[in-house]
Amino acid sequence: MANILSVEGLTHHWGDIRLFDSLYFGLEEGEKAALIARNGTGKTTLLNILAGKLVADEGYFTIRKGIRTGYLTQLPVYSAGQSVMEAVFSGENEMISLVRSYESALESHDQALIAKMIEKMDAANAWDYENRVKQVLSQLKISRLDQPVEQLSGGQQKRVALAAVLVEEPDLLILDEPTNHLDIEMVDWLEEYLGRNKATLLMVTHDRYFLDRVCNSIFEMDNESLYKYNGNYSYFLEKREERINQRNQEIERARNLLRKEQDWMNRMPQARATKAKYRIDAFYELKDVAEQKTEEEGFSLDIKTTRLGSKVLNLEGVSKSFDGNMLVDDFSYKFVKGERIGILGKNGSGKSTLLNILTGALNPDKGVVDAGETLVFGYYRQEGIQLDESKKVIEVITE
Ligand SMILES: Nc1ncnc2c1ncn2[C@@H]1O[C@H](COP(=O)(O)OP(=O)(O)O)[C@@H](O)[C@H]1O
Ligand SMILES: [Mg+2]
Repeated sequence: MANILSVEGLTHHWGDIRLFDSLYFGLEEGEKAALIARNGTGKTTLLNILAGKLVADEGYFTIRKGIRTGYLTQLPVYSAGQSVMEAVFSGENEMISLVRSYESALESHDQALIAKMIEKMDAANAWDYENRVKQVLSQLKISRLDQPVEQLSGGQQKRVALAAVLVEEPDLLILDEPTNHLDIEMVDWLEEYLGRNKATLLMVTHDRYFLDRVCNSIFEMDNESLYKYNGNYSYFLEKREERINQRNQEIERARNLLRKEQDWMNRMPQARATKAKYRIDAFYELKDVAEQKTEEEGFSLDIKTTRLGSKVLNLEGVSKSFDGNMLVDDFSYKFVKGERIGILGKNGSGKSTLLNILTGALNPDKGVVDAGETLVFGYYRQEGIQLDESKKVIEVITE
């Protein structure tokens, strides 16, 4: 099948650091690809380039003529005063402007205007489209269209941005971490939506189950290169291990050989230099390979472990309600060392409240929270971290 996107030799640096070097790859029409890599590798940078927000240092890419691209950025930014309505219907096509006008007519409660817009919607056969838009908005729980976007939480803003991209119904969807701020129901819905959508997809995700349900190929960014895997996440892990073993062996071989050749280089009298030029060239090539770093195999984020006493955290009969709304009801739990727990629940069911109780930021109405003496919390709040811009990165992270 013909490619919808073709990338030819893209290279990009930030300052002295090269993020990727001469990437070549393509996306076939209808392909659903995940882009994965450790944080800070350059995924967002690559997507910014492909979406035309950033110009690469070298190389180019082509998107087939007539293909419309929709891009969900990792951190959407809105201008002051922009309403949810304007943000969601920011696309430029005719259907979108028609539905935007229809929706604002509804908001205005002006009966004459509404009647006129209904006529226009009839004429343009826009009701199916309006239906799909409604579905996207209701699934992503975006109800108040008149609200200024800047008043929304980071997660809500990201959902508005996702809605805006989906409403455009582009042919090529580029999504940077689309599920980070979605609850489980929304993720389920998005899985299904993307699954039956005909659009070609390139997305960054850290959610392996979402990845497996939606994608049929995986691109991994590593060592400034891109590796493609035609399979699911388990297949990727298996093949990645093979790739790394192979590469490590190559480096190991080069290092052994280099020791011999280094001896020869050291012994070589200046006069013989021209005769053995091929061998000298080969020596430098070998040196390049041998000086590469061997890689560790695991693919997961690094987790620092602090030494802990045996007691971590005990909850006894903890309850908490807000305005008569019981969020946590007589909850007891003993957390043990090394446990990894996910908390599931709909938006508004009290997940953040529970975390605030665990970390001592909030007192329960009833019950006891008993934390081990050596316990240190790392707490990344839903709204992110409020950064003091005058501080250096190192100051912030060591606080
Ligand atoms: N505008 C920028 N200016 C300078 N450095 C940047 C900029 N954007 C990203 N970087 C750096 O490039 C690296 C890759 O960033 P990014 O593309 O966001 O990675 P990822 O999305 O894989 O986490 C990081 O080290 C980041 O600090
Ligand atoms: Mg990123």
